[in-house]
Amino acid sequence: MRTFRQVGPLRAYLRGLRAEGKTVGFVPTMGALHEGHASLFRRADSDCDYVVASIFVNPKQFGPNEDFAAYPRDAPRDLRIASDSGVDAMFQPEVDEIYPSGFQTVIDVPELAGQLEGAHRPGHFRGVATVVGKLLNIVCPDSAYFGQKDYQQLLIVERLVRDLNMPTEIVAVPTARAEDGLALSSRNTYLSASERNAATVLYRSIQRAQAYVASGGANPEDLRKELEAMIAGEPSAVVDYVALVDPESLDTVESLEQRLTLLALAVRIGRTRLIDNALLASPGVPAARSRRGRG
Ligand code: PAJ
Repeated sequence: MRTFRQVGPLRAYLRGLRAEGKTVGFVPTMGALHEGHASLFRRADSDCDYVVASIFVNPKQFGPNEDFAAYPRDAPRDLRIASDSGVDAMFQPEVDEIYPSGFQTVIDVPELAGQLEGAHRPGHFRGVATVVGKLLNIVCPDSAYFGQKDYQQLLIVERLVRDLNMPTEIVAVPTARAEDGLALSSRNTYLSASERNAATVLYRSIQRAQAYVASGGANPEDLRKELEAMIAGEPSAVVDYVALVDPESLDTVESLEQRLTLLALAVRIGRTRLIDNALLASPGVPAARSRRGRG
């Protein structure tokens, strides 16, 4: 696996691949890699001739009281995982390479970014959209891979790629989970053993919601209250939000009947904030979204 710290040499390498007519898949990450990231690498590897990944802990997407400084960093381990999962080239820029002095442009996707995570983390999605826009412009991949684990981020990236006519296909990859259902996340390493146990309440809530909708349950307020009570039953868990929304607009839904609904959860377990989500399909409705993003 090749590694690059600067844009210029990475672009020269990519020009070489393109001259040979090779397709390029791209997977942006913030490192602290786990099996969820590896599933994105493997999907890119099976779709494309070459896989480029990036590791960049993006300061612009962390709030002042968030964990930017403490975010787990382990480059040697990350490089091993990436290389074992089919990554051909890793881009690991320093902050100055991405945001040199004088940098000021932002990418804002205001309607989608104002809800759910965005309402709880002001500025977060402006930071995400700006860095993803830059990385896609640097790599110009045929396809870029994003996890459904961060559903709102995926939606925002699809929107910005369409709005800015970026010639990359955005591919959504299903959430990788531990055996007990907990969505894999770099932040799971912050959990103590008892918190790790309590954290399963997110997936238990998803399963309860899926059973409710599959059996014809239609009332989003009833379901939301039931899930909130279930989460409140875990002593170390505090709900940030439990939302039942339209999977494209993220607007709150009035009924769960004859439709696909996104259940989005944000729960604090002790000092660690976890998110998860699932699409809920009422009986007879296909369980997946159909559209994909490309500019
Ligand atoms: P990071 O949290 O490192 O995640 C990188 C990619 O891995 C994202 O697309 C995320 O959705 C995906 N991912 C994380 N956990 C996953 C899981 N359990 N299953 C499947 N995919 C999973 O998301 C970011 O970094 C950043 O916001 C980034 C897009 C890199 C911009 O800085």
